[in-house]
Amino acid sequence: MSTLGISATAININSASKTRRTPVVGYTPLKISAGQSIGRFVIDKKIGQGGFGEVWRAKDQLGRFFALKFDHLQAECDFDQEAAAFEQIQANGGHATIISFLGKEKDGDLSYRIFEYVQRENLLSHLGGVVEAEGRGLSFTQSLTYLRQIAGGVQFLHGIGLLHNDLKPDNILIVDDRELKIIDFGAATPYPAGLYGGTPMFSSPEKLFMHQIDRRSDIFSLGIIFYYMLTREHPFASQTIADTKAVANIQSGKISLGLYSLPKEIRSLVSRLLAHRPEDRFQTCDEMIRAIDHAIETAPKAETIWQAWMRKATRLAERLLYRFADLKQKYLHRKIG
Ligand SMILES: Nc1ncnc2c1ncn2[C@@H]1O[C@H](COP(=O)(O)OP(=O)(O)OP(=O)(O)O)[C@@H](O)[C@H]1O
Ligand SMILES: [Mg+2]
Repeated sequence: MSTLGISATAININSASKTRRTPVVGYTPLKISAGQSIGRFVIDKKIGQGGFGEVWRAKDQLGRFFALKFDHLQAECDFDQEAAAFEQIQANGGHATIISFLGKEKDGDLSYRIFEYVQRENLLSHLGGVVEAEGRGLSFTQSLTYLRQIAGGVQFLHGIGLLHNDLKPDNILIVDDRELKIIDFGAATPYPAGLYGGTPMFSSPEKLFMHQIDRRSDIFSLGIIFYYMLTREHPFASQTIADTKAVANIQSGKISLGLYSLPKEIRSLVSRLLAHRPEDRFQTCDEMIRAIDHAIETAPKAETIWQAWMRKATRLAERLLYRFADLKQKYLHRKIG
């Protein structure tokens, strides 16, 4: 049960770190290295390291790559929250936007979960690395396409009675411009839930306040991801995604960058996703997806928020110039007259 979640008092709201299970303090590092054989795999390279474990790329005898996920607390793997969630997902046929889980195996004392391997990076490193020619974030079209994809996976998940409960950019893998995969179901839980987990700065206000959470909590996290794709800024933190002020701002409902700069089709979507009170948010993924589809049809195409700002600023500057020229003319006329 200790891997199920953290006790309510264990959430450190001032920490951007993850709190979904018992914090792993003083664990013995896993002794895994490239070239090592584990079960039917040969370990290749480390591709992820969290507070709770390590993810390694490994090859099987046919030369195919897989992602193997090892928990630091190997002894606690008797109840495996992530494997349990994936068993439920598989029993319901799985979903194209959810990473394929290929089972759990053990070699000696070492147990690990096996996943399909996704070659490209996660959304966080993609946004950290991507510097678009003329813009800060992804284009409206690309951000909406990605949001629609993730929403489809989350809709499936909610439909089988689960919350992901840790939606954030590093838990989304990019396959290509149209396809994403949701990973990391270590905090997934049936809802409504009273056991918490996930990452504070991507959590809904009700989770941070330790109220009961339901589907709307995941919807709020999707709002943060969407805003981050558009602006490359966390909506509740002014400078950087690591800004821990975000947590206090989420609790008070203070969006740091404001919504005024977004085109109105996108602005209404973001404000429903990030509404402070769950009652003011989209209540279900169906409702959210209808709004995303509407925004896809109506929002400016292939433009970044930066380009939209520039367009607005140019229009404003032009108007001011005309006004100034007009005033000058009137002044000269009056002087001559
Ligand atoms: N199937 C996969 N294919 C490719 N890369 C993966 C895969 N699974 C995980 N990774 C990489 O490993 C990182 C960590 O994976 P995951 O989120 O499942 O582990 P975690 O221990 O929960 O990490 P954290 O505590 O940081 O959230 C991901 O952000 C991703 O970059
Ligand atoms: Mg993760």
